[in-house]
Amino acid sequence: MNDIEIAPSILSADFGVLVDEIRQVEPLCRFLHIDVMDGHYVPNISIGIPVIRTLRKHTDMIFDCHLMISEPEKFIKRFADAGCDYITFHVECTDDPERLCREIRDLGKKPGIAIHPNMPMEKIMPFVRCADLILIMSVIPGFGGQKFMEGTLERIAAVRAELDRLGSDAIISVDGGINNDTARMACDAGARLLVAGNAVFGQEDHAGAVRDLLSCASQS
Ligand code: DX5
Ligand code: ZN
Repeated sequence: MNDIEIAPSILSADFGVLVDEIRQVEPLCRFLHIDVMDGHYVPNISIGIPVIRTLRKHTDMIFDCHLMISEPEKFIKRFADAGCDYITFHVECTDDPERLCREIRDLGKKPGIAIHPNMPMEKIMPFVRCADLILIMSVIPGFGGQKFMEGTLERIAAVRAELDRLGSDAIISVDGGINNDTARMACDAGARLLVAGNAVFGQEDHAGAVRDLLSCASQS
């Protein structure tokens, strides 16, 4: 995947008409970002397995599932069965990230690892080689609509350099505070998959918002 892509985050969508919301971005986006929060790892609760299973019946988009949960290893199989394609967990939430990546792969899914913005990059670097997606958080996980944190760009560039060194084609994704300005900066630093909640579903014209983000992101 070399082209820049947007993964709309349904956290900012209208849950009352979720499938209609998805239909609006479906023609322009391959990935759909799904935030799962447990009220424990993060101070918020969002959606879970039954909603994902239901959405799976309505769309063929790639489900980019972002688990903000403690002990993700206990739930991986259920998320896989529900229809997730990429399953991304936070490295500090499990004792053995390498093993968890392997288990996700054994279930026929693509493992992703996420890094909290307050965590040093050394926590994630040893596991970059195990994952198909590296999710660099640019806000404190738990809520949409926050401001893109300074320092994220260097973190993206560090992962980009490590993937190049390894010869890995894993996707670098960035999550939080993406708008027309930060989209371009994140892509300049090496990100390829931009998660956008508020910047897409917070706008009246969701498809137009995706098009704007894509055009800003590719002006590098
Ligand atoms: C935050 C979530 C994000 C969130 C991003 O914990 O992981 O995916 O939806 O929202 P925006 O794009 O509004 O910052
Ligand atoms: Zn997310």
